[in-house]
Amino acid sequence: MPVLTVQPSGKTYQAATGSSILSALLAGGENIAHKCDGKAECGTCHISVLEGRKSLSKIQRAENEMLDATIGVGTKSRLACQSIVGEEDLSIEVLA
Ligand code: FES
Repeated sequence: MPVLTVQPSGKTYQAATGSSILSALLAGGENIAHKCDGKAECGTCHISVLEGRKSLSKIQRAENEMLDATIGVGTKSRLACQSIVGEEDLSIEVLA
């Protein structure tokens, strides 16, 4: 099972392949905002993916539109609720 590391704290969580980063973080007890409960409508689960980005699910239209409306978006930005874990370990930073 891939390991999800949150920077800068260095906390690690197990992230099941096929689950979202948001659900893996919440299951592990990480404090991450998620106002719309994973519907790509709020942008509060904005993260930067530092490692393992290519193993995640591709960005779909709803996520792309939400990121366009989110402040502070960079090339590593994703929405945790829309990022489905693949086979590789991940390192992320929570931004919102
Ligand atoms: S929880 Fe709202 S966009 Fe991810």
